[in-house]
Amino acid sequence: MNDKRIAVVSGGIGGLGTEICKSLAQAGRRVIALDLGSRSERIAAFQDEVAGLDVRFEAANVADYDDCAETVERIRRDAGAIDILVNAAGITRDTSLRKMDKRQWDDVMGVNLDGVFNLCRHAVDGMTERGFGRIVNISSVNGQTGQFGQTNYSAAKAGMHGFTMALAREVARKGVTVNSVSPGYCETAMVMAVPEEIRAKIVDSVPVGRLGKPSEIARTVEFLTADDAGFITGANIPVNGGLFMSF
Ligand code: CAA
Ligand code: NAP
Repeated sequence: MNDKRIAVVSGGIGGLGTEICKSLAQAGRRVIALDLGSRSERIAAFQDEVAGLDVRFEAANVADYDDCAETVERIRRDAGAIDILVNAAGITRDTSLRKMDKRQWDDVMGVNLDGVFNLCRHAVDGMTERGFGRIVNISSVNGQTGQFGQTNYSAAKAGMHGFTMALAREVARKGVTVNSVSPGYCETAMVMAVPEEIRAKIVDSVPVGRLGKPSEIARTVEFLTADDAGFITGANIPVNGGLFMSF
């Protein structure tokens, strides 16, 4: 054990997750990346990418409530109680509602929304007991605007922010902040899976005129999870190149 703050990042080996892990480790956190354990090549590539940093991988399925309970307890035993939780695990199953089957709905809800509940439910007590915690939920611009072909994803991402605001109120007096970050379209596998023609139109509609960089999302997460960010809670921080502006 040491006295570094312990940060857990779900979806930690993904495009945004990897940059978030690196950035938190560079900010002096001890980082644990949670992701599905079945991706051996990607896990190896991740380990190369974070070599030399205080980052380690642990397998966990955020859609599985019991697995999350065991994972949080194992981390507490092996590394210490979780101080910072970044919920970045997410999937898409894009199709219009008229074609969407129940599985596509359930899968997206299970990872993107239940996953947030499953990890927060087990991590939050340790934070409130110790009087410090930072939770950041990675939502999406498409939760704010809705997107064609994403009734499942947009609902989960909007739900995530409702969860954020409610939990923020519950734990505000205990030194724990809960915020959302809503990225626009960034350079990751998730966005590269959108057909090129559709993606080009989306990029055209972004005022900044390009996709976001994962490091630009990581920068925002690092800011929200700092020890001196304790007066920001229940907020949603858009990082979207101007794609959706609101007050
Ligand atoms: N707006 C309006 N009409 C559209 C449309 C759009 N964006 N996309 C398709 N259509 C039209 C088609 O032209 C077609 O019209 P016709 O029937 O008249 O020919 C019809 O809708 C097709 O409807 P379908 O029910 O057949 O649609 P589909 O099931 O084939 O789904 C789609 C199409 C896969 C959803 C496709 O539109 C798509 O990939 N859209 C992009 C979705 C997207 O942005 N996903 C983001 C993934 S990345 C991410 O999620 C990260 C993040 O948070 C930002
Ligand atoms: P990504 O590269 O696909 O990373 C997501 C990671 O989550 C992947 O490693 C994925 O594994 C993992 N994952 C999926 N199901 C899981 C589960 N049940 N348990 C644990 N891990 C699981 O996507 P990303 O672009 O980095 O996105 C990260 C987050 O940001 C997501 O929540 C996404 O919705 C959100 N977001 C992304 C963008 C963007 O432009 N990229 C914009 C707005 C919001 P697999 O790859 O094996 O599924």
